[in-house]
Amino acid sequence: MTSPRRRRRPVPVCALSCALAVAGCTRGGAPAAVDAGKVVVACGATEEWCAAMTAGFTAATGVGAEFVRLSSGEAMTRIRAGQANPEFDAWHGGPSDGFAAAARYGLLEDYVSPNAAAIPERYKDPGGTWTGVYVGVLGFCANTKVLGEAGPAVPESWQSLLDPALKQNIGMAHPSTSGTAYTTLWTQVVLHGGPAAGGVEGALQYMKRLHPNVLQYSKSGVAPAQQVARGEVGVGIVFAHDCVATREQGFPDLRVTFPAEGTGYEVGGVALVKGAHNRASARKYIDWALTPAAQEIGPTVRSYQVPTNPAARKAHQVFDLAELRLVDYDSAAAGESKLELTRRFDAEIAKAPKS
Ligand code: G6P
Repeated sequence: MTSPRRRRRPVPVCALSCALAVAGCTRGGAPAAVDAGKVVVACGATEEWCAAMTAGFTAATGVGAEFVRLSSGEAMTRIRAGQANPEFDAWHGGPSDGFAAAARYGLLEDYVSPNAAAIPERYKDPGGTWTGVYVGVLGFCANTKVLGEAGPAVPESWQSLLDPALKQNIGMAHPSTSGTAYTTLWTQVVLHGGPAAGGVEGALQYMKRLHPNVLQYSKSGVAPAQQVARGEVGVGIVFAHDCVATREQGFPDLRVTFPAEGTGYEVGGVALVKGAHNRASARKYIDWALTPAAQEIGPTVRSYQVPTNPAARKAHQVFDLAELRLVDYDSAAAGESKLELTRRFDAEIAKAPKS
């Protein structure tokens, strides 16, 4: 006779499937997706950074990681296209206004990592949608050899970029694809009074005047630094750390300057993609991305953004934010306007003939 204590109760189907699934059951009892023990990352910083981060995560946790390098606008488009069957589990790197824009379309799931407590409030979304992993500051990257002694001076202001002597001599990315370029565009909105005080029209007017000086609008934000290094243009509008990294790759004539009127900055983010297949692994990835160890990886591959975790050591190449004149960059407001503003940039500026 079987003792009542040892009698087995039938195992509910859900419990069985959840025992097999790493992610377990949802609260309602429905089986959650099986986590494959790896995370697939839409990665918004440089290719080298993405490779080093995903490898560092696997080395630290034993969880697999794959990435696809995508500029900000491309990441948003790909995540949106995969809404019914997500291709990615986490989005890591690239300006947080892109994350704010994606959140408006319900593409991200709030996740407040326990490690987010170490990140200052100004570097995370108050609603918990994204958390900041680095800060990058916009600057000008000039090739002093290309500008030459008799040529236009190394630019020190947004105004000086409008100098006709720089005709077709500036590299900038396209704000629809590049988060760097969208940071440039929103910085102009702020410098022209902000969205509530005609700043959008002022920014588009400025971009219209800049347009004849731009050789071409590249897809990724780092590309103009490479154009400057190759001598295709004299000046690039880039995140300043990308210019430093390019200079270190054997281009000593590159020089970084910051605009006197004030400059914009990005808070590079990390977030969980809504409906992620590998949700548990993605959460582990986000937890890890916020640690000092993860944030100290950047400089090993010449990525010199400012870490958001105050305990992370800073490389000597990292700019001191306290020494720079920064505009008041509201990434939530920038994200809210992103699709409409980039649409207008494309229609009214990028396609206009160059006089
Ligand atoms: C580079 C910078 C990052 C930045 C990213 C944005 O990788 O090092 O700090 O977040 O560009 O890329 P995007 O192509 O969207 O401008």
